[in-house]
Amino acid sequence: MKITADTKICMIIGDPVEHSLSPQIHNAGYESLGIDGEYVYIASHVETPKLADFIKGMRAIKIRGVAVKAPHKITIMQYLDEIDETAQKIGAVNTIVNNEGILRGYNTDWMGVVSPLEKRTTLKDKAVALIGAGGAARAASYGITRKGAKLNIFNRTIEKATELANEFGGNAYSLQDLNEIKNMDIVINSTSIGLPPFENKVPVSSEYINQKQIIYDLTYILHGKTLFIDQAEKKRAITITGAEMLLAQGFAQFKLFTNHDAPEEAMRKALI
Ligand code: ATR
Repeated sequence: MKITADTKICMIIGDPVEHSLSPQIHNAGYESLGIDGEYVYIASHVETPKLADFIKGMRAIKIRGVAVKAPHKITIMQYLDEIDETAQKIGAVNTIVNNEGILRGYNTDWMGVVSPLEKRTTLKDKAVALIGAGGAARAASYGITRKGAKLNIFNRTIEKATELANEFGGNAYSLQDLNEIKNMDIVINSTSIGLPPFENKVPVSSEYINQKQIIYDLTYILHGKTLFIDQAEKKRAITITGAEMLLAQGFAQFKLFTNHDAPEEAMRKALI
């Protein structure tokens, strides 16, 4: 045990948070860099009515960094001193850094979407189908358009797709228009389809998927893979699982909290 009176605390908060793997992932990163006496990473279940108190506590005990999970990514913003420009554009904060008492909010979710894709392709001018128009889709929309790809949003509630497409620049479709997916280079699922109770459903039927496409399911399940990924593999598409999103957004958080580049392999090993 290397923890001392000087150890800085980083943590994840959410409701729920009990199943979060971030403590294992980040602590494994600290250990691999030999900074596990300098930093420790914990998790705390914080309910929405307690967010203001949490922020007071963060200031009082000088917590260095906080990863913010659902449902707090929007509500937390009002309590911070500064919001970085990207987080402002996305309209959500998933990372707080405490710099000598100044709390600044960031968003690394968009990098969680973009960097696993950029390891496989260049995004510029690619046609991207984004399924869903909720919170995760906002970060994805920002990242996709920032990298110069063409955004096509498909959502059950077409109004929400239209709103997002107007804000970030792109086309909106309902789930009746899934035939269009055939022409897309990249398909990203940002809905919760694939998670219980929808584990036997897919966001896009495999008849629209082909081997030229990259299929990225932001939905993460601990053991195994989503049905969408399973079907895409059978179609010989290039697949990316939600584990990549979780890791990539965490790598960016690691850098913000510690100023060290994330030891990616050690952190990946801790997750898998
Ligand atoms: P998150 O923050 O994880 O993105 P969210 O903001 O609640 O969650 O958004 C959930 C998204 O999944 C929405 O796009 C939602 O579609 P609606 O806008 O029509 O509600 C989509 N979604 C959730 N369950 C779905 C289902 N069973 N079928 C189709 N879309 C679904």
